[in-house]
Amino acid sequence: MIHCICNNINTETVDQAKSCGAKTPEQVQSFCGTEFNCGQCRESIQARLDVLIEAPAVLVAAE
Ligand code: FES
Repeated sequence: MIHCICNNINTETVDQAKSCGAKTPEQVQSFCGTEFNCGQCRESIQARLDVLIEAPAVLVAAE
């Protein structure tokens, strides 16, 4: 899914930014070497970051 049309930032890129420490949409843009243009992607990127923050990084197998 494309989150930022202006800068072609997709879900995979947001995930990579998060794994490198990005916690805000601004930090995702910075990770990509870009800046907000229209800013309409801010909520979409934040929503993806929220999912990643809530999801456990590693699933523990049930015994
Ligand atoms: S859609 Fe991201 S800055 Fe425009």
